Amino acid sequence: MLNIKYELATTKKPKPDENNLGFGIYYTDHMFVIDHTEGIGWHDARIVPYAPLMLDPAAMVLHYAMESFEGMKAYRLPDGSIQLFRPEKNAERMINTNKRMCLPSLPVEDFVQAVKALVETEKDWVPHQDGTSLYIRPFIIATEPHLGVRTSKTHQFLIICSPVGAYYSTGINPVKIFVEDEYTRACPGGTGFTKCGGNYAASLVSQVKAHDLGYEQTLWLDGVEHKYVEEVGSMNCFFKIDDVIYTAPCVGTVLPGVTRMSCIELLKKWGYTVSEDRLPIAKVMEAAKAGKLEEVFGTGTAAVISPVGELRYEDQVAFINNGEIGPVTHKLYETLTGIQWGKMPDDMGWTVKVC
Ligand code: COI
Repeated sequence: MLNIKYELATTKKPKPDENNLGFGIYYTDHMFVIDHTEGIGWHDARIVPYAPLMLDPAAMVLHYAMESFEGMKAYRLPDGSIQLFRPEKNAERMINTNKRMCLPSLPVEDFVQAVKALVETEKDWVPHQDGTSLYIRPFIIATEPHLGVRTSKTHQFLIICSPVGAYYSTGINPVKIFVEDEYTRACPGGTGFTKCGGNYAASLVSQVKAHDLGYEQTLWLDGVEHKYVEEVGSMNCFFKIDDVIYTAPCVGTVLPGVTRMSCIELLKKWGYTVSEDRLPIAKVMEAAKAGKLEEVFGTGTAAVISPVGELRYEDQVAFINNGEIGPVTHKLYETLTGIQWGKMPDDMGWTVKVC
């Protein structure tokens, strides 16, 4: 159990227009900070006014990308209370990420305690409008000033919050996806399963390419053969072909998404066949030609459930469900958001009350 000290802001920022939040534009009044020092462990947990960090220019995070992060949300319920969605899953994933990245981790209970404490402090920032939430960004950075490549002796773990609307400007309307066949995102033994900034930095070249071609995101193929579908820039991806729902297996190169996991659990509960076998992109494009690619959607904390309306692979273009949201995608969206925003009973036991 953390002993969190509070230093509250004396002035509060004006709240943004809830109808126009966008994603990751506004930040709340406070942040959570805790330090880690080799030989001492975690110390000085605090909630302090949101402010720029003081970092030595030689801090290792700035040179060797020694950092990791998480993404989660707090939701405003119809009765005004606030809840989180499976926060322990984010804590567990961060521990797995940090092992790979040689970063220290907070125990699950301390991580969840810190998130709850900050959200409760920022409760007035959790927006009320439909489809809005408070995005929570826990992250850890290596702070030791040192230019040799080795693990850092000091780290800082922080949590910041941002009131958000939809991640894509298209909202719940289907996105257009470009299948990347030149660059790779992840290889066996690499960091593909982690939430480290480097994975995202290395993906931008393809995102720029996709944008230039008129597509919103990149669908990555496996890094060895460029043959099997893996994940989209900021989402896991599902394909419904001939009544089977496929998503890439989490075997080290795909992010084990909390929304992905929740969708699989819901789909299985509803009696769908879910396959986590590797799915060749050729099979996806053939299915599209044969009229059997019924639905494609992405899942993620930021993106929620995002229908895909178009896939471009090499010189082939697949249009999915006439560019409309399909019935399974719609049911998943309604159920998941219903549970998250407290508009449906949480039969799965996924939500955690904050205040
Ligand atoms: C999330 O879905 O929370 C993410 O972290 C994706 C992204 C915005 C990087």
